[in-house]
Amino acid sequence: MRRKLAAGNWKMNGDRAALAEIEQVAKAPSAAGVEVLICPPATLLAEAAARAAGTTVTIGGQDCHPAAAGAHTGDISAPMLADAGARAVILGHSERRADHGETSKLVRHKAEAAQAAGLVAIICVGETEAQRDDGTALDVVARQLAESLPDSAGAENTVLAYEPVWAIGTGRVPDTAQIAEMHSHLRARLAARLGTNVAQGIRILYGGSVKPGNATEIFATPNVDGALVGGASLKAGDFIPIIDALAAAG
Ligand code: 13P
Repeated sequence: MRRKLAAGNWKMNGDRAALAEIEQVAKAPSAAGVEVLICPPATLLAEAAARAAGTTVTIGGQDCHPAAAGAHTGDISAPMLADAGARAVILGHSERRADHGETSKLVRHKAEAAQAAGLVAIICVGETEAQRDDGTALDVVARQLAESLPDSAGAENTVLAYEPVWAIGTGRVPDTAQIAEMHSHLRARLAARLGTNVAQGIRILYGGSVKPGNATEIFATPNVDGALVGGASLKAGDFIPIIDALAAAG
């Protein structure tokens, strides 16, 4: 069975005072029933990992460079994330694809580097609103997956996140039929590439305006193994009800 995962992506938010939110989340009883991952900005990683130590909450990064070390000013490598206490890293988020021109090929190289460093690669895919409207969402996302996923992907080192770009930070979410269709499509593509057994073990998260008020419905959707949460992961008071909903989901 796939273990449910509630992942928080703080994006470019949070200072040291915000680390108290992690301690709050770790105290929630439901956080012991599912996997909880919080991905703060890189400046907070080491201290976040120290605060989460001894709890069931784990810490992750939001990006890494494909190389392990070298002359890449401003970048952070996967081994550095692991050394700071990260267990996972978000890769290919649509904001990085848009803001930094990241291609799926680059995301694949980053995922290979992350896996080699012992990190779980959380690979993000998702269509734009125009692609949803013109009926190409399934094809676009399948292609992103094919090009971003390393051959070394397995249940232990890879998580997928379906994040429709038009649902991120907008308060709009696809209806559950659309989420179910995309997640089952992704599962089928994983099976075609990696075999049914491996595909059945890989978690597929939904991301995009997940809130306490819609989490229960989203988590009841087939092939949704958890969520990648942006804005609502910043405050324990919002994130804990989402974790509660995940723990309660069948
Ligand atoms: P929001 O939950 O703020 O829409 O962000 C989703 C997201 O991009 C998570 O990676």
